[in-house]
Formats: sequence, structure tokens, C-alpha cells
Amino acid sequence: MKKIVCKNYDELSKCGADIVTAQIKAKPDSVLGLATGSTPIGLYKYLREMPLDFSNISAYNLDEYYPIEKANDQSYAYFMNDNLFQYITVKSKDIPNGEAPDAEAECRRYDKAIEQAGGIDLQVLGLGVNGHIGFNEPAKALSVGTHAVDLTESTIEANARFFANKEAVPRRALTLGLGGIMKAKKILVLASGKNKADVVKKMFSGEVTTDVPASLLQLHGDVTVIVDEEANGEA
Ligand code: F6R
Repeated sequence: MKKIVCKNYDELSKCGADIVTAQIKAKPDSVLGLATGSTPIGLYKYLREMPLDFSNISAYNLDEYYPIEKANDQSYAYFMNDNLFQYITVKSKDIPNGEAPDAEAECRRYDKAIEQAGGIDLQVLGLGVNGHIGFNEPAKALSVGTHAVDLTESTIEANARFFANKEAVPRRALTLGLGGIMKAKKILVLASGKNKADVVKKMFSGEVTTDVPASLLQLHGDVTVIVDEEANGEA
């Protein structure tokens, strides 16, 4: 895994946007895997300002709370529209459907859709303080395909900042599995802030464990991790 250390969040965001831009220029019909959460907000801000043709891009998001209405301003569908899709026109965009009546059927639909699109060329990931990627939470065993997951107490607490209170955080989510993530041709991980320093260290430890799902990325052949100095444990 390659690590790029940036001075601060703004530099990290610009650096991430440059990598996504290079991907789109090299392959204008790229299939992008996108993440939500606070970390990629700056990347999306830079990306939507780039003079780029997104019209052949297909975008698939990593995860979505379940159940949640798309119109809920905390849904990831809403987040993506708010931060990116209202500004650019892509060929297609998809996200696990938080309104689907049958979670299992929705997960199968999602995996099939990504496969039919030719697989993800570049997957953008954030990093949970507990080591999760997507909503693949630390566990004895991790799932390969897209699946419904119970969020851990640590994730509910970390995400409570976006909701009125902790009780309002949905308890479940639909997420791409480790198989879906690892099948991406390239992976770009972003981590910013002191609270990510521990997990960044574990991610590069040379040990792979389902207790730190992000550590599995060490088995992938093309991963770039962009950290700021705080997440690198320097500040
Ligand atoms: C979001 C996602 C999560 C976040 C992670 C970090 O789509 O899948 O894994 O990337 O929880 O969140 P932030 O960036 O808010 O620290």
C-alpha cells in the first residue's frame, strides 16, 4: 500500500481529487465506487469544480443506512446529491436502496448491477475509527457480498454527530462486502484527523485481522492511502 502524507485536510482533499481526476481522464467511462461520511466532502468539492467530462461515468456508492427514506437529509442518497450529483451529470448513479422492502433482494440487485457495469475501477473509501470500511464492522467473520449489517455501538456513537441525537441514528445499513471492495481495480483511502491515527497505524501493521477490516486492504495490489499529518500521528 502506498501512503501519501498531506499537511492538512484541504491538501488531502485536493490530492484525492487529483487521483480521481487522473482516473477519469485515463478512462472516461470509469466505474467509480464512492463513499460518504465527513472525510470525502472536500474531495467532492474539488472534483465538482474540475473541468471534467463526467457524462460517461457510472457511480456506485458503498453503503446506505437501512431503512431510511431517500428524502431524509441524513441518507447517503441525499448526501451524494448534496455534495456531488447536483453539480455534475454522470451516466448513471446507484446506491443501495434504503427504502427497499426486501434487504436481501436489494443486496443481490446491487452486486449484479456492479458486475454488469464491468466492476469498479476506482473505489474511494473513508476509514472508521474502529477500522471499518464501508459498514463492514469489526467481527469474527466478514461478508463477501453486499449485505445488511447491524451497526456497532462505536459507529452509532461516531455518526450521532450528524443526527439530532444518538437515538436517531439508524441501527442497520446495507453495505458492499469485503469481496466487493477488494474486487475494485484501484482503491483510494482517505483518513483525516487525530482520531484516525491509531487505525491508520493498524492498517499498515503488516497484520491482517477481521478485527480491523481496513487491514485486509494490505492484501490488495493497488491501494493508495492519503492521510493528513494528524491521521499519520505526527500532529
Ligand atoms: C461511508 C462509509 C464509512 C465512512 C467512515 C468514516 O460511506 O462507508 O465507512 O467512510 O465511517 O467516516 P468519516 O469520514 O465521517 O470519519
